[in-house]
Amino acid sequence: MSDLYADIINLPDDITNQIASVLELRATDPQQQSMSTSLLKDLGTLDNAKVLEIGCGTGAIARKIAIWPGVAETVGLDPSPIFVNQACNLGKEFKSLRFVLGDGTDVPFSDESFDVVIFHTTLCHIPDSQSALLEAYRVLRNNGQLLIFDGDYSSITFSIDNNDPLQICAQEAQSIISHDSFLIQTLSKKVTDIGFFVIKQRSFGYISENDSHYLLTVLDRGADSLLKRGIVSTFLAKALKDEARYRLKNGNFFGRIVYGSILARKQS
Ligand SMILES: C[S@@+](CC[C@H](N)C(=O)[O-])C[C@H]1O[C@@H](n2cnc3c(N)ncnc32)[C@H](O)[C@@H]1O
Repeated sequence: MSDLYADIINLPDDITNQIASVLELRATDPQQQSMSTSLLKDLGTLDNAKVLEIGCGTGAIARKIAIWPGVAETVGLDPSPIFVNQACNLGKEFKSLRFVLGDGTDVPFSDESFDVVIFHTTLCHIPDSQSALLEAYRVLRNNGQLLIFDGDYSSITFSIDNNDPLQICAQEAQSIISHDSFLIQTLSKKVTDIGFFVIKQRSFGYISENDSHYLLTVLDRGADSLLKRGIVSTFLAKALKDEARYRLKNGNFFGRIVYGSILARKQS
């Protein structure tokens, strides 16, 4: 098992459709909504801005950007035809929002054509992240803003004490959930090397609450991967999943992922 998003165009349609539902479900999560609102506020006052979201998926964040104050035009770009079709359908009521099929490492827009470029939980899934950042730099106008938000997947934890067996699911999930689980730790240098000026870096904690649906999917992916790699048997994989659900019922399930963001400006 590996990062599914990194090979999105080669996945079977049923898996891509399942992922599409997860993306839309995630966008309804109050903690995710509050993180994205807070993140967009970092852009400050916008005026007539043209915004590109690279790796827009089904368009949940692009729809939010499209009605953000000061945004005149929003474009969502994604390599998956299934995601782009769904994004077009879900976003059809939104004026000045459109979706385009394309790859973040070869953006189909001319130089200096956007005021803001956003990667929302996407850059860690692009194996050649440097090319994607170079493309963001190219299509941004001088003084344009780059906003990146991603999971610091090296931080996933399900531990409630030392040597908690659920932590093996976190460790395994770390290596399969994204292409680069240490992206956030290295991002400042990556964007600076390209010529961006870093304005602000932040971190956000996503913690299990009453509805731990998303974190349970992460734990299950870890257990399934351990099973697939032959590290554990079906008995232990099931026991790990059962333990998580037992804790949830018992009120002592804990899960946390830290997210990080960076806001940078193009200075040519
Ligand atoms: C976790 S999803 C995020 C979707 C959306 N930004 C959101 O937050 O709802 C990651 C997205 O990255 C896209 N992606 C994968 N490889 C890409 C590439 N090379 N260029 C652009 N997007 C890519 C996937 O198709 C997927 O839509």
